[in-house]
Amino acid sequence: MKFLKSYFNRKFFKQKAPQAFEKTYKSIQSSKTYLKYCQSIHGISIKMLNTLSPIQLNSLNDIVKKSQAKKVLDLGSGNGELLVHICNENSIKGIGIDFSYLPPSNKFCSFIKSDHEDFNLNDKFDLILSIDSSYMIGDFKRYLKNIIDHLHPNASALFFMTFTDTSLESSPFIKACKKLKINPEIIDFTNNDYEFWQNSKKELDALNQEFVDEEHFNLWNIKYKEVLKNLELHQENRTKRYQILIRK
Ligand SMILES: C[S@@+](CC[C@H](N)C(=O)[O-])C[C@H]1O[C@@H](n2cnc3c(N)ncnc32)[C@H](O)[C@@H]1O
Repeated sequence: MKFLKSYFNRKFFKQKAPQAFEKTYKSIQSSKTYLKYCQSIHGISIKMLNTLSPIQLNSLNDIVKKSQAKKVLDLGSGNGELLVHICNENSIKGIGIDFSYLPPSNKFCSFIKSDHEDFNLNDKFDLILSIDSSYMIGDFKRYLKNIIDHLHPNASALFFMTFTDTSLESSPFIKACKKLKINPEIIDFTNNDYEFWQNSKKELDALNQEFVDEEHFNLWNIKYKEVLKNLELHQENRTKRYQILIRK
């Protein structure tokens, strides 16, 4: 029964999500207030659709720098702004994959419109990123194995993920790591995530009129519903936020 439910949830997600995300990215693109919102909650002046707090973003930047990567792959790269920022800052070549949106390529980054659950790029990377994009994965063992196959020896894959209604140990991600004999390095950012959602609520409350004035109430509403849901999940102790690093 649980299997059937998750099968139909995934099927629905695959059908509806690409268009829904694309619509959101188009609104984000034309909203100046969204940039203000991102600056305030992520501490960086680029438009993203993830839940990285400034502390988590610092941790990501540290890992990128320490990796000395020359080539990075970003799974679920969204509007591509985070990948472009990382690649520009560190002079890295980047490839982003997303099934919803195809940002313009530039000197450092190129983008592919595709499903990242089952990709084959015939290439190897020094670092693979997945920032809030590894959800609704049908077979995590296969997914992680494919990611590892795309890494150079000693290279790493970095995930930022939120788990709801599951413990870390019983999550499909960690079960898959065990089956593959991967020993992930995990940082628990749950308390920091709660602060992130509290800050997001404050900021959205303050920016409501600005979003309305630029005719982006829908965008505000999407984010506000997400904020209220996540605050509720935290208050009920049902959500956990992790940074997970796996090394080949
Ligand atoms: C929450 S957004 C995060 C975007 C981006 N990583 C960022 O940090 O701003 C999740 C993104 O993952 C993409 N995504 C989710 N599942 C995917 C899949 N199976 N294949 C390709 N893209 C996927 C969505 O289209 C969306 O752009």
